[in-house]
Amino acid sequence: MNAIVQHSPRTLNRVSGVDFRFPTEHELDALEAFMLSVVLPPDQNFDVQAFMTSPAQQRGLELFFGRAKCGECHNGPVLAGGSFNTGIVNLPVNTTPPSACDPPCPAIGPLEAGGQREFNVPPLFGLKNTTPFFHDNSVATLHDAVAFYTSAQFNASPGATFVGGIELSPAEINDITAFLEALTTCGNGVVDHGEQCDDGNAASGDGCRPNCTIEVCGDGVVDPQEACDDGNASDSSGCEGSCLSLRPNR
Ligand code: HEC
Repeated sequence: MNAIVQHSPRTLNRVSGVDFRFPTEHELDALEAFMLSVVLPPDQNFDVQAFMTSPAQQRGLELFFGRAKCGECHNGPVLAGGSFNTGIVNLPVNTTPPSACDPPCPAIGPLEAGGQREFNVPPLFGLKNTTPFFHDNSVATLHDAVAFYTSAQFNASPGATFVGGIELSPAEINDITAFLEALTTCGNGVVDHGEQCDDGNAASGDGCRPNCTIEVCGDGVVDPQEACDDGNASDSSGCEGSCLSLRPNR
């Protein structure tokens, strides 16, 4: 509820009913299911070394925590951190109105307070499922998000001053991209670190969920083939031990 009120209202006045409305129970459940499906790995074991399966990924990991300085802001278990202004607001897409729109494009207003607004350092797991990137979705691919850190916009930002600037070669950008891609392996058809199953698709109801956990009765998650799942295998509560039917009250 705080996320809806605080982070995604239409305006920062946050007036209930105008800037946001409270979600229904059904909408909240759907939001939760979506978020659980993109946050990976499913077992919450964020040991980055355990994801590495190629020399490029390993080189990317070492750059990330070393010379590339990413780890100075993206740290802790999920590679998240405090807040910084990394210059996203100064990207051309945010400063130049699109050349052609129908109806004509509105003028882009003055940059927000000189582009000084800081954003939380987001976690970097599951990125394959969460394109496009940055708070304004201004960058389409993971490669370009990594390459952003060598741009003039980043290197003129307060965040760059904090780490003393970042320079990377095209090969290093590719290695860091490989490292970050390796942190989303669910859906590649191989049971990797942290996964219970991986059938190579994003469907549910086929035994393996889109977040690579096994669909079982009794774990509290209602899978498509189940009528209910109250998190136990007993018949005495509201759901039959088989999860195939609700148990009437008697
Ligand atoms: C000065 C701190 C800082 C450094 C250094 C830094 N980041 Fe970030 N990173 C951030 C912040 C803050 C954001 C959110 C920016 C925004 O959305 O405006 C971010 C966002 C990202 C995103 C987008 C994630 C998403 O879900 O949208 C990626 C990918 C990323 N960083 C990778 C890297 C890599 C790779 C490096 C090293 C080359 C790096 N970062 C270095 C602070 C930093």
